[in-house]
Amino acid sequence: MKYKRSLIHYVDIPKISDDCFLYFVQSPDHIPFAIKRVYYILKSRPNLPRGSHAHYKTQQIIFCIQGSIRMILDDGSKREEVILNQPETGILLDRMIWHEMHNFQKDTILLVLASRKYEDKDYIRDHEQFLAIANGNNKKTSKI
Ligand code: TYD
Repeated sequence: MKYKRSLIHYVDIPKISDDCFLYFVQSPDHIPFAIKRVYYILKSRPNLPRGSHAHYKTQQIIFCIQGSIRMILDDGSKREEVILNQPETGILLDRMIWHEMHNFQKDTILLVLASRKYEDKDYIRDHEQFLAIANGNNKKTSKI
């Protein structure tokens, strides 16, 4: 029961081992949306957290394909932490999930698959505002 209510939804993808390791992700087999955008993050600094926002509509899957990070997920009523350090195991960053990335190990590379194109107005960057919207006591809703 505990796991049903967890904010951490793992996404496991195939790993092909021949003379190297090859991983692949395809929709809808491995992820619950059609991929509209891919981005990757590298050259991050250990002491500089990233993220700290939620999206109204965009769903994402994040993989740490090299290195390690500590992620915090928050749905407005609980916060959970997870270490990402396996290229074959990503996690879902669903709509209206506040997420933060911390403790970037040197040379970490993140790969993110997104359900929508980039739109600044899909972001909620203020945590107080996020809490108000997530808990249903803010009149302001999605602008998109
Ligand atoms: P942001 O999503 O805040 O990055 P992170 O989650 O790693 O903290 O984006 C950082 C900057 O990059 C911000 O100015 C928006 C821009 N950006 C794009 O232009 N396109 C994109 O697809 C993404 C993800 C970000």
